[in-house]
Amino acid sequence: MSVKPIGIFDSGLGGLSVWEAIYDLMPGESVLYLADSKYAPYGGRPQSEIIQLSRKNVDYLLEHGCKIIVVACNTATTNAIDVLRQSYSVPIIGIEPAIKPAALNSKTGVVGVLATRGTLASSLFAKTAALYAKDRKVIEQYGDGLVELIESGEIESKQMQALLTEYLTPMIRAGIDYLVLGCTHYSFLRSQIQAILPAGVQIIDAADAVAKQTKNILDQRGLLSQVKSIPNFRFYTNKDLGVLESFLGSLSADKTIAKVDF
Ligand code: SIN
Repeated sequence: MSVKPIGIFDSGLGGLSVWEAIYDLMPGESVLYLADSKYAPYGGRPQSEIIQLSRKNVDYLLEHGCKIIVVACNTATTNAIDVLRQSYSVPIIGIEPAIKPAALNSKTGVVGVLATRGTLASSLFAKTAALYAKDRKVIEQYGDGLVELIESGEIESKQMQALLTEYLTPMIRAGIDYLVLGCTHYSFLRSQIQAILPAGVQIIDAADAVAKQTKNILDQRGLLSQVKSIPNFRFYTNKDLGVLESFLGSLSADKTIAKVDF
């Protein structure tokens, strides 16, 4: 049993969608969340820089006593998870585009993946696609510009609508029946995306799977929090406090939201 927090980081606000899934499954677990928005987006950065930023975040979370690290960023996972696991002894959970369930369940045989350049160019993504979707047509699309708009709180803007229409139209024409959201930020665009896609196209992400995996690992290692302990929720950003506050506005639990240097 442990009262130490789960450490979660993302290039910014997107990983809050993963935290929501973790909170739904384990509401009694304390959390320290890092939104590395100062350096967002990670998606266009070279791998060496993504590794360096990921290490910086993990170091901060470990200095603050986290018992497990959740890399709530597809770009960081696909580019840095092997190095992180080799460098640290705490368990490290990552998130990857959910191409496996999409490929397995697709009836049209055509699956769309919307993700960052960094994720789609990674060898981990190539391996996963080759393993699970080799007999499927996979339409890959870079989501250039989407993370920047989400980070500035412009989820419902005209510019967002125009970018999503541009990115999704070729997939719709190709006959996708599954759209994989391969960036945790994009989970905040579900309703906008749903409104563009034809009825019947399923949108999937890996947030629930990551929450389940986190719980399994904590359980296996005897690290789940005590039932009676009162959880502590801390959300730190190194950029815009107001946007982080607006994303967390509906969370009724007591929480600390702060701007800190990391
Ligand atoms: C980004 O920082 O470019 C997006 C984060 C992600 O891939 O989940």
